[in-house]
Amino acid sequence: MNAMTDLARALTHESSIPSSLFGLPDQAPHERVLLASDEATGLKAIIAVHSTARGPAFGGCRFWSYDNELAAMNDALRLSQGMSLKNALADLPFGGGKAVIIKPAEIKDRGALFAAFGRAVQSLDGAYITAEDVGTTTADMLGMQKHTRYVSGIPREGSFGGDPSPKTAWGVFVSIEAGVKAVMGRADLNGVCVALQGLGAVGWHLAEFLHKAGAKLVVADVDSAKVERARAQFGATAVSVNEILAADVDVLAPCALGASLNERSIPTLQARIVCGAANNQLATTSDGDTLHERGIVYLPDHLVNAGGIISVAREFRGEGEEQAVISEVSRIADRVTELLDRVKASGETPARVADAWARSKLVRPA
Ligand code: NAI
Repeated sequence: MNAMTDLARALTHESSIPSSLFGLPDQAPHERVLLASDEATGLKAIIAVHSTARGPAFGGCRFWSYDNELAAMNDALRLSQGMSLKNALADLPFGGGKAVIIKPAEIKDRGALFAAFGRAVQSLDGAYITAEDVGTTTADMLGMQKHTRYVSGIPREGSFGGDPSPKTAWGVFVSIEAGVKAVMGRADLNGVCVALQGLGAVGWHLAEFLHKAGAKLVVADVDSAKVERARAQFGATAVSVNEILAADVDVLAPCALGASLNERSIPTLQARIVCGAANNQLATTSDGDTLHERGIVYLPDHLVNAGGIISVAREFRGEGEEQAVISEVSRIADRVTELLDRVKASGETPARVADAWARSKLVRPA
């Protein structure tokens, strides 16, 4: 099994065909959805603007091969709603949106394809702002800049910007610290055991932060070279990709795929806390209930993985300065503490509390 086939499976799982475009289960309706195509470059893109209640819809662009166009549509609709909740929880003055570009069987000219996508983004006149997501790179964003003002995640010499993954990792790290303090009563991560599923852009930075804080690492990745590096650099214990979710650890950090927490995996979990970067970790809302019943504290992905969007949002607003971004991302820890207080007070699950909290914030900030 290689990384692409595995990721493809997870994305397929996330992409079942929608039963109704105007009222998906658990979804508020979208404000607008643009189908953009360009014959010359082979572009077929869906730009989903879920909500502009808090400001322009902001969320990345996914470049992926889908089984069919409806699966791509479902992905765009689900992901854009997730961005509304994530941006609201992060107190950003942005709404939620997301784009997917359906990967053509043959890419003749990647630059031209993304230029056409950039023109489609521009046609929305600022209702949607794009950035990196699965399958897109800082180079794609850089190229698009000639065709739209509404793009972020662009490396700039001498100032912060570009790849959001280190900031995403920092947000997850401070969330793990806050979770460990609240659940285990520990003031720091020294000796705390963390299982990392996925050592990619976010997972690797997270491993660095955790190692520096004295945590013990158990790691798995379908790419064995990354696992070897983690063993050498962090003294990490390697386990197989089939064993990582059930590792005997304090914290499980899913940093690879969506839907890893499901009816098959949850009964095997040994961790007390789940806190990782992967989007849509719960296969279904009721999987959050099952985790809660098992006494496992799940820190919702929409809350803890907002560091990247905070970074690209600041970059877009020209509010650069590395330290200010890090301070803003660090505040995710306060929200984790507040969430756990609300969970204690209500008896509801963290996933349901975070969802209701985010929905209450889907209004324009004062
Ligand atoms: P990435 O593609 O750089 O890393 C994913 C890693 O997971 C790769 O090393 C891959 O080999 C590994 N992997 C794939 N299947 C696996 C399996 N079954 N078991 C173990 N490892 C496996 O992606 P990135 O950027 O690090 O993102 C990770 C997750 O975090 C994704 O779900 C992404 O949507 C989410 N995320 C990323 C953000 C960012 O700033 N990059 C922001 C918010 C969410």
